[in-house]
Amino acid sequence: MLILGIETSCDETAASVVENGKHIRSNVISTQIDIHKKFGGVVPELASRAHVELVSHVICEALEKADCKLSELSAVAVTNSPGLANALLVGTETAKALSFSLSIPLIAVNHIHAHLYANFMEQSSIVCPVVGLIISGGHTAVFYVENCNNYVLLGQTYDDAAGEALDKVAKMLNLGYPGGPEISKRAEKGSSKVIDFPRAFLGKDICNFSFSGMKTAAARYLECNSIKNLADVNDICAGFQQSVIDVLIKKIVSAAEQKNVKTILIGGGVSANTEFRKQLSEICKEKGVNLFFPSLKLCTDNAAMIAGLAYHRYKKGKFEDLSLDIHPQLQV
Ligand code: KG4
Ligand code: ZN
Repeated sequence: MLILGIETSCDETAASVVENGKHIRSNVISTQIDIHKKFGGVVPELASRAHVELVSHVICEALEKADCKLSELSAVAVTNSPGLANALLVGTETAKALSFSLSIPLIAVNHIHAHLYANFMEQSSIVCPVVGLIISGGHTAVFYVENCNNYVLLGQTYDDAAGEALDKVAKMLNLGYPGGPEISKRAEKGSSKVIDFPRAFLGKDICNFSFSGMKTAAARYLECNSIKNLADVNDICAGFQQSVIDVLIKKIVSAAEQKNVKTILIGGGVSANTEFRKQLSEICKEKGVNLFFPSLKLCTDNAAMIAGLAYHRYKKGKFEDLSLDIHPQLQV
């Protein structure tokens, strides 16, 4: 069964054709990084305008690469939550138009659930229940995953997302956008032992996060200390990155203990971070916990994860009609 997935929740216009929830026939991503770079972050109105211009081309390319005709599609799936309102609207209305004109089911997919589902596309040895950590530019959240159709939110950030905090600290250091990969590159050359940034753990058994104070601590540090050379920048990056990593690791390991599960899934753009992968892998090995990350191409925003998860909704008959709305906030 072939499903077309459409993803326009933030600054990537993406479309993909996936067979039976797993086999990726095409995965086309048109990034808008160059549009937003000069502003140091995503400008919502520019993002939605670019989606309007790009979405049809990206869908055509995805169908072409998948060697798939419109008539061969069993369903069209789209991210309708969470994300930037006008950006979500572009994908959602496009999917509705395709569903109506082709007379095929319309499937709504939660972007955050799909980030976790990306793990199931590449691994067949995941046994549910598991706990999952989503770390992206817009969200940081912990889920209890009963099966790939059922995600229970255990906690999320009260303020900034992990990726957002990394992006903002990178902006303070003039490292460009998106900042996460830049911080990661520089951190490799620095030491995390030079500056001890604060960590917000918010209590042992709490799965919520707060990165805003940690980000402000970095801003205060930069106000009070002059940066003399590149080595200073590298140490700040390493120190701040480590403070974020410590919080993420502590929270997801504690969630696994609380829920008494032996498997952790990670998803979202920040899971591309090499140091985070390395440190969490070591801890999980020590504790005998199975750990899964998506491959790098499925960590950041893509439509393959949308078309993949849609297959399971299709099997459950979870279809939408043309009144489908967008939900910019993460639904609890
Ligand atoms: O999931 P994603 O592609 O988009 C959202 O849904 O937000 O995540 C984007 C976030 C950005 O904040 C970006 O800086 C961060 O992921 N990111 C990274 C790395 N690659 C992307 N953060 C740390 N290290 C990386 N290697
Ligand atoms: Zn995302």
